[in-house]
Amino acid sequence: MTDGWQDLGSVEALKATPLQEVQVGGKKVALSFRDGAFGAVSGVCNHVGGPLGQGTLEGDYLVCPWHYWKFHRSTGEGEPGYEADRVPRYALREEGGRLLIQTQPESKRHKTPHAPHRLTLAGERGDGPPRVLGISTTAMTEEHPRYSTSEALLETALTHAAEAHGAETRLVRLGALKFRNCEGFYSKSANACTWPCSITQMDPADEMEQVYEGLVQWADVVLVATPIRWGAASALYYRMAERLNCVQNALTTHDKVLIRDKVASFIITGGQDNVQAVAGQQLGFFAELGFVFPPFPYVAHSRGWSAEDMENNVRYVRESEELHAGTRALVDRGVELAQRLRASSACPAKIARGGRKAHRSS
Ligand code: FES
Repeated sequence: MTDGWQDLGSVEALKATPLQEVQVGGKKVALSFRDGAFGAVSGVCNHVGGPLGQGTLEGDYLVCPWHYWKFHRSTGEGEPGYEADRVPRYALREEGGRLLIQTQPESKRHKTPHAPHRLTLAGERGDGPPRVLGISTTAMTEEHPRYSTSEALLETALTHAAEAHGAETRLVRLGALKFRNCEGFYSKSANACTWPCSITQMDPADEMEQVYEGLVQWADVVLVATPIRWGAASALYYRMAERLNCVQNALTTHDKVLIRDKVASFIITGGQDNVQAVAGQQLGFFAELGFVFPPFPYVAHSRGWSAEDMENNVRYVRESEELHAGTRALVDRGVELAQRLRASSACPAKIARGGRKAHRSS
């Protein structure tokens, strides 16, 4: 490094790679070559720090590999319409077949202020009746609904919550929501899996926000109802669970506890078996999100492996006073625990999780 310039290497060799990440004075720089010209800008995205030099080139724009924000490869400006959102640019020169870069950028980073997403606005819970959220994860067509044993018990639960506890209730049917699959941002980096979910921030048509808002901001008690499909919870349940990675990941990356003093319980039904495996997954996953559980936190029903007579399964759940009474009792235990938690407000907003490698934003 001489006079504030750093030798990046042979011009001919560097031309061979359209986009690469190089280190300049300890900082990441995205170096590109296209249409006979090099460009160099900061390799750190304005959004949440994605590695621009590891992204892709779309014309003269670098596309961030994390959530696809775009910056001009030479000027550092954001894509048309977002020019003011820019990353620093670096001067380059060629000398004796070598490519040199100035170690200090020629321009400054500018982040356009964005209004905070409504999911980040932490409203006070305040007084008021208990709030019970039911999430039904069964799949069916809206035009031709059928009797769902899990959803029927969930409806029993919500009716009981309102009648016996004066609760406000909501029912979210995942099958009626249009939401995108998790795109695996976490698999790129823990820091790429953001709260709120980047899909929710980027795509106003994505309806997963109803689940986030219900779980994180609104509910005191959450009841998740699922059928058993081939020994596991439903596919819709897992689509939701994958999108909830960002809730758990807020603890991993920022020690931030989004689910505080909230109760989860489960309704699990299937014509065939595997109740315990489904319950085990749900208890483990919802514990990781921050929920706590009442004693005996699920009601469940299955007729066993050899029972293929689904009509009788439906009839059994419809007519079983025991199952419906058990569901009402589950609601009582959940609401009672939620009220105690609200009174004590025991869970802190931050917990240093420990026991795992830290993934902190630099
Ligand atoms: S788009 Fe670059 S970090 Fe999100």
